[in-house]
Amino acid sequence: MESKGRNLFLAVVLLSIASAAFSSPHHHTGLTPYYYNYACPQALPTIRRVVKAAVKKERRMGASLLRLHFHDCFVDGCDASVLLDPTPTIDSEKLAGANNNSARGFEVIDQIKEEVDKVCGRAVVSCADILAVAARDSVVLLGGPWWNVRLGRRDSTTASRTTANTDLPAPFMDLNALTSSFQKQGLDAKDLVVLSGGHTLGFAQCFTFKDRAHNDSNIHPKFAKKLQTLCPRSGFESNSNLAKLDPTSTHFDTLYYKNLLKQKGLLGSDQALFGGGNTDELVRTYSEDTTTFWKDFAKSMVKMGNIKPLTGNLGQVRNNCRRVN
Ligand code: HEM
Repeated sequence: MESKGRNLFLAVVLLSIASAAFSSPHHHTGLTPYYYNYACPQALPTIRRVVKAAVKKERRMGASLLRLHFHDCFVDGCDASVLLDPTPTIDSEKLAGANNNSARGFEVIDQIKEEVDKVCGRAVVSCADILAVAARDSVVLLGGPWWNVRLGRRDSTTASRTTANTDLPAPFMDLNALTSSFQKQGLDAKDLVVLSGGHTLGFAQCFTFKDRAHNDSNIHPKFAKKLQTLCPRSGFESNSNLAKLDPTSTHFDTLYYKNLLKQKGLLGSDQALFGGGNTDELVRTYSEDTTTFWKDFAKSMVKMGNIKPLTGNLGQVRNNCRRVN
């Protein structure tokens, strides 16, 4: 009787441990870091090698690859929909406002795909997983944190410019609009603040901050002056001129947040994170604590990478990231 009771107790304990393990935050997506360990152990080193060469050639490419993963995940999940070229049946997201003449890095993804398929002997690695790994490798190469990328995403057979236009956040959004945009993806205000830290890398074109430079009051006067010179109020010739999103735009550091404290955020959506709203404290924390920024950034990148993946026999593994099989 007593031993029966103990066995029952043991069984309950074991069951609850097992169910806790299976209900861990990342499990329900069906993604796992080990997905290609058997099918193609060379996959991840190959992605890294091509990203490394591309970043060596042009350091900005690391920023561009990080942004591509973000723009993929926010539009119907991380399914490589952002990579599909326009055809009569594909409503390409490349033509959406936030991507047109702006998203870049597609050639590098093509090259990764080619080399990975060659080393694996066939198309086993999805374009969506390539985007997730390339984003992580870029951040590491530019001096940021490493995280274990969950894998096993499959690629979409559709794209939606309409959804890209509604679901990708815009640089003129205020804190409320940004929070809603992230909430729609299952991401909270902390994810918003820490993932915006991606703007420690890369550049933005005049047309994305020109209005702020000339009209906003929550901007440091000298900083505004500089931007006004780069992007004069009238004329379109300057619209594609580039400004660094933070002064050390090829180094993954906390200067992005330090600048927000001084009203030197480049985009309206950057400065919106600091200036009397409920995210001020978090900006202050990240501005002075690299370790916490790194840890939280890595955590939120995994969370973003888990948005609505296609798994099992949903979707496909594309042979060419630009078109459906
Ligand atoms: C919070 C809402 C966000 C808004 C409104 C936003 C908006 C923008 C805009 C307007 C640009 C400049 C594009 C151009 O001028 O062509 C940009 C660049 C960039 N964004 Fe964001 N972004 C947001 C969040 C993020 C997130 C979450 C990440 C990644 C974790 C990210 C990573 C980047 C990077 C790395 C660049 C530079 C790309 C390059 O130089 O090629 N952004 N973003």
